[in-house]
Amino acid sequence: MRVIGIETSCDETAVAVYDDVRGLLSHALYSQIAMHQAYGGVVPELASRDHVRRLLPLVREALAKSGSARDSIDGVAYTAGPGLIGALLTGAGFARSLAYAWGTPAIRVHHLEGHLLAPLLEDSPPSFPFLALLVSGGHTQLIDVAGLGRYRILGETLDDAAGEAFDKTAKMLGLPYPGGAALAHLAENGRAGRFVFPRPMLDRPGLAFSFSGLKTAALVALRGRALDDELRADVARGFQEAVVDTLAEKSRRALRATGHRRLVVAGGVGANRKLRQRLGVIAAESGAELYFPRTEFCTDNGAMIALAGCLRLAASRLGATRGAGGTMAGPGVLDGAGAASGGIAPVWSDFGLGARANWPLANDESSGV
Ligand SMILES: Nc1ncnc2c1ncn2[C@@H]1O[C@H](COP(=O)(O)OP(=O)(O)OP(=O)(O)O)[C@@H](O)[C@H]1O
Ligand SMILES: [Mg+2]
Repeated sequence: MRVIGIETSCDETAVAVYDDVRGLLSHALYSQIAMHQAYGGVVPELASRDHVRRLLPLVREALAKSGSARDSIDGVAYTAGPGLIGALLTGAGFARSLAYAWGTPAIRVHHLEGHLLAPLLEDSPPSFPFLALLVSGGHTQLIDVAGLGRYRILGETLDDAAGEAFDKTAKMLGLPYPGGAALAHLAENGRAGRFVFPRPMLDRPGLAFSFSGLKTAALVALRGRALDDELRADVARGFQEAVVDTLAEKSRRALRATGHRRLVVAGGVGANRKLRQRLGVIAAESGAELYFPRTEFCTDNGAMIALAGCLRLAASRLGATRGAGGTMAGPGVLDGAGAASGGIAPVWSDFGLGARANWPLANDESSGV
């Protein structure tokens, strides 16, 4: 089974082809970062317009690199949310049109499901169940993953996401958007101990996070001081240590509470080297193993959407084989509930794009065909 995946939730246009036997066959990505940098952040209308420009060439590129003829594609998966609604609609409209023209099912994929399944693209993938620490630009969540589509949020941020805090602090340090990776680089030359920032929410039980105070603490540290290289590096180091400590301690608590033997870290902040190192130690101390996607699949990409779409399509077909109901042959649209029941609505009965700016990751609510 072969699925093409299309990602347009924010400022990356990405397309990939995934095969359930041969794995990832190709991926192509265009980042809009340079375009948005002039504004210090993503401009939604510009993002949507650029996705429209990039989608078709990227689909051609991904198909050619994968060596797939279009009649070998069994499904078109697309990010249906959460994300910028205009950006999502460009991908959804494009993907659904493609699926209709090719006579294949369209598969709505939850962006966060894509992120947390991304380590399954690697050579030694984790098996279910596992604990996932999802740390991205818009989300910070600890998720109990029992299986495909079986997700329980154990704790999440009450305010800023970890990536958002990295980006806002990086901006204060004079780094261009998105500054997370550059801040991490700067922190390498920082002195330990000059700035010891608060570890938010560690003094109370539970698995919730809060990062907005940490960003303010960095602002206070910078106030009244000349912004030289030494100060920038020391603040970056203090900030990163506080974030890593907090994420690691909550992950340790969640491992203990769930008894999971596998810890997955995914999302853009999951590319952070210090965080990976600390989580490796935490996992080892808890008798667990750490899994993460390669760096390029931590941030947004089409590979994770193609993979999630392929798993959803396979689950849906399995459901139908077992007599769970639904029409499995021919073109159709899978959604979360449809996937659970093995149902595919005929494509001509549903022209809705299914894009959702806000979409909680929860059982029966997440991706599907
Ligand atoms: N090495 C790094 N250290 C810390 N943060 C990083 C690093 N590399 C990337 N990031 C951060 O990761 C974030 C981008 O990740 P990602 O693409 O997963 O988020 P998003 O797609 O914008 O958000 P969401 O998936 O929640 O909608 C940015 O905030 C970026 O600064
Ligand atoms: Mg993302």
